Formats: sequence, structure tokens, C-alpha cells
Amino acid sequence: MLDSFYQALADLGYNHPVHPTQVNMPIGLVVGALVLGLAAILLKKSHLAVSLRHIMTVALFFLLLTMAAGVMDWMHFYSGVWLPVIKIKVGLACFLFLLMVLAVILGGKLKPTSPILITIYLLSFVTVVTLGYFGADLVFGGRTPPLPKQFSAGQTVYAMNCCGCHPYGGNAIAPRKAILGSDKLTDLKTFLGWIRNPRFPMPPFPPERISDAKAGQLYRYATNLHD
Ligand code: HEC
Repeated sequence: MLDSFYQALADLGYNHPVHPTQVNMPIGLVVGALVLGLAAILLKKSHLAVSLRHIMTVALFFLLLTMAAGVMDWMHFYSGVWLPVIKIKVGLACFLFLLMVLAVILGGKLKPTSPILITIYLLSFVTVVTLGYFGADLVFGGRTPPLPKQFSAGQTVYAMNCCGCHPYGGNAIAPRKAILGSDKLTDLKTFLGWIRNPRFPMPPFPPERISDAKAGQLYRYATNLHD
């Protein structure tokens, strides 16, 4: 079912993960809640804080959507493999969920500018930023050893698709199955055969995600890592 969802998106020309399209909503709303809450206190205008509970309710709704999208992407693009960053992200997302539920419940009981509520907004803000940090780390994590300029196109493909599981050309899931020194790099044909149809839990990379041209750049990057 999940595959047909992503296939339907691909048919529309959309091959990216769906989580990044959702993630801005809870982030924006949490930041908004904190700013309004602080403004209410600093400017001593408590009417600024009256909408906070509603903002957090909407944020909670979008958080659930964002988490669902994240889990779907994780199943699809990372074969549901428990990478360390994924564990951190799932833990933080659950914590954020609890904070928001608390904000909504207590928001109905306490004064809008109560220090408890402001602390919850502040903690939510810190959690949401940390979640964003680990999300970027998963995708761009600087775990792509830099090579001379002529390989930078391949490095980008590597950073966007491979480095979550293959930091520094290694293998975070099956340490003995590193890219460095792999016989799948013998020639481009073998390499293409592997990434199009790898062994589970490595996810397949069809041409819609990595075209033959991009795979060629990726191959040159990967083989020169090896040298
Ligand atoms: C979700 C994690 C994941 C992602 C993303 C991923 N891989 Fe893999 N990769 C693996 C796992 C796990 C294996 C070992 C599979 C096995 O059991 O043989 C592997 C194996 C490999 C191997 C063979 C290593 C050997 O045994 O010789 C190569 C080459 C490789 N991956 C390249 C890539 C490239 C290139 C990308 C990006 C386009 C990529 N992988 C993306 C998880 C991943």
C-alpha cells in the first residue's frame, strides 16, 4: 500500500520524501506560540496570549501528520531501519507530542501567561529545533567525505540518498557491507544493477529517484572514495 502511495506521487512527478512538506507547520506554530507567549509577558498584554491554546491544538494536529509522514518516509526510503538518528528523532517527536498535549490540557486550566505554560512552549521550541537539527543531520550529515570539485555532483547525490546508512562510505546497519572496497563498485553496470535492485534492507533506487546520469556521477564519487 505504501509503495503504491509513493508510486502515485512518482506518477505525478514527485519523487521526494513527504515529511519535509509537513514539517514546517508544527515548527512555525510552536515558534509562534512561544513568541506570542513571551510578548504577552514582556509587554504585559495578556490578550496576546488568548490564542495560544488554539495554536497549540493546531500544532498538535500537524505534528501527528508530520510524524505519520516521517514514519512513511522512513519505511519507504530507509526500509524502516533503526538508524541511531531515527531513534533520537522518534524519541524527541514523542516528547514533543506529550508537551503539546500538556499545553492543550493545561491551557484550558491555567492563566494563558502562567510560567508553567511558557516553560512548555519553550521546551517545545527547543525540541522542535533539535528535531530539525537531526533531520538535517540524517540527510546532509557531513558524512560525505569531500573530494575535488569534479566529483561534487556525485557527492550531492550521495548526501541526499546514501549517507544516512553509509556514513563516510561505511555501513551503519551492516558494518561489514561498506561501500568502500565493495565488489559492487567493480564497474558501472554492476553498481547500477545493485542500486536498482539491492538486497534488503537497502532500499531500491529506481531511475525516477536517481537517473542513469546521476548514478554515473554517484559511481564516480563512490569509486574515488575508494582510491
Ligand atoms: C536504509 C539504508 C540504506 C541506504 C539509504 C542505502 N544503503 Fe546501501 N546498503 C545498506 C545495507 C543494509 C547494505 C547491506 C545489504 C546486504 O545485506 O548485502 C547495503 C549495501 C550496499 C552496497 C554493497 C556493499 C557490499 O556488501 O559489497 C553498496 C555498494 C551500497 N549499499 C551502496 C549504496 C548507495 C550508492 C546508496 C545510495 C544511492 C545506498 N547504498 C543507500 C543500506 C542502505
